[in-house]
Amino acid sequence: MFAALAAAEPDEILAVMAAFRADPRADKIDLGVGVYRDAAGETPVFAAIKAAETRLLDQQPSKTYVGLLGDMGFCNALGALTLGEAATARSAATQAVGGSGALFVLGRLIRAANPGAVIHLPTPTWPNHRNLLGQGAGLSCAAYPYLSADGKGVDLAGMEAALDRLGPGDVVVLHASCHNPTGVDMPAEGWEMIARSAAARGWLPFFDAAYLGFAEGPEADAAGMRLVLDAVPEAVVAVSCSKTFGMYRDRVGAAFVMAGDASARAAAQGRLAAVNREHLSMPPDHGAAAVRIVLEDADLRASWGGELAAMRGRINGLRQALDAALGAEAGGARWRGFAAGRGLFATLPLDAGQIGRLRDESGIYVVPGGRVNVAGLPDDGAARVAAALAALG
Ligand code: LMR
Repeated sequence: MFAALAAAEPDEILAVMAAFRADPRADKIDLGVGVYRDAAGETPVFAAIKAAETRLLDQQPSKTYVGLLGDMGFCNALGALTLGEAATARSAATQAVGGSGALFVLGRLIRAANPGAVIHLPTPTWPNHRNLLGQGAGLSCAAYPYLSADGKGVDLAGMEAALDRLGPGDVVVLHASCHNPTGVDMPAEGWEMIARSAAARGWLPFFDAAYLGFAEGPEADAAGMRLVLDAVPEAVVAVSCSKTFGMYRDRVGAAFVMAGDASARAAAQGRLAAVNREHLSMPPDHGAAAVRIVLEDADLRASWGGELAAMRGRINGLRQALDAALGAEAGGARWRGFAAGRGLFATLPLDAGQIGRLRDESGIYVVPGGRVNVAGLPDDGAARVAAALAALG
């Protein structure tokens, strides 16, 4: 059976994570995989999540199945936080296995609705979008321009021209906030352009909301997405709790399908259940239940919000520290611009040779293509990274 099986291509982000772990140097710095790290280099469990898990262990009456769609109380609470209550009320929903599971389920649903649908991905985007929606969900993928030529903003004119050529049957993937891999987010006029184009042309907005709360706050970071949801009859949203609630390994997320009317919503709800049944039967409960407990309890919710704000503060502080350290290095100026970005990521114009030098000479790990995770910096790491970048010339 397996003798002729071709080896799978390694995932470029997870390969960096493995190489970092295997590196014995004590002063190595991981700017690779997109996880938040504190000053000690740890990815902490939110205190509110710990408290919710304790409550769950003490009080959970049974481990019997929850149901095909998972915990709908979780979906409703997460929807209200992210999409807002009005859009949540217009949406079918399911719990999902992380944001990736939500992307996949939504891709499958779109294929069931329209096998010829084309998914348009921003250039650049998270590489796993193409895996999940192309190879995974079986949809055709295309690209639209996102990052401007100077790498500092969104190519609004190029994007608008591309979107205005689309129509029904086209699906456009949009990063709700903290664009991965660039950290360059949509300005307000860009969201207005998107809302206008989607409403006028009839293409389907497909939001990936994986980093809400890492720029200005969960609701503020969702403002552009909500503006678009208000303007269109239909949209889909994949929400991840990996970063926003620190639930990475527990794989917690939800998929929302905003449908044009009650009958389309009911059909989408039934199809979401069927797609779940086909590929995982039922979503796992534990992590989603913990997030629901946090969102439904005023004290835990306030504690979670405070910790998230502290993470955001650290990320934004590191962005400024990097710019300041680069400003102090002869030859550092060309790498500056971190403070203008949002969330974990920035993409630097690094070629493969330079990425190899950062790793071999300085123990600094960067994703191919030049993506760096700012939160991977230890508190005293800005000067070291700035010196290593400046030394590249
Ligand atoms: C990342 O972009 O590094 C994260 O979303 C982790 C992943 O699965 O790629």
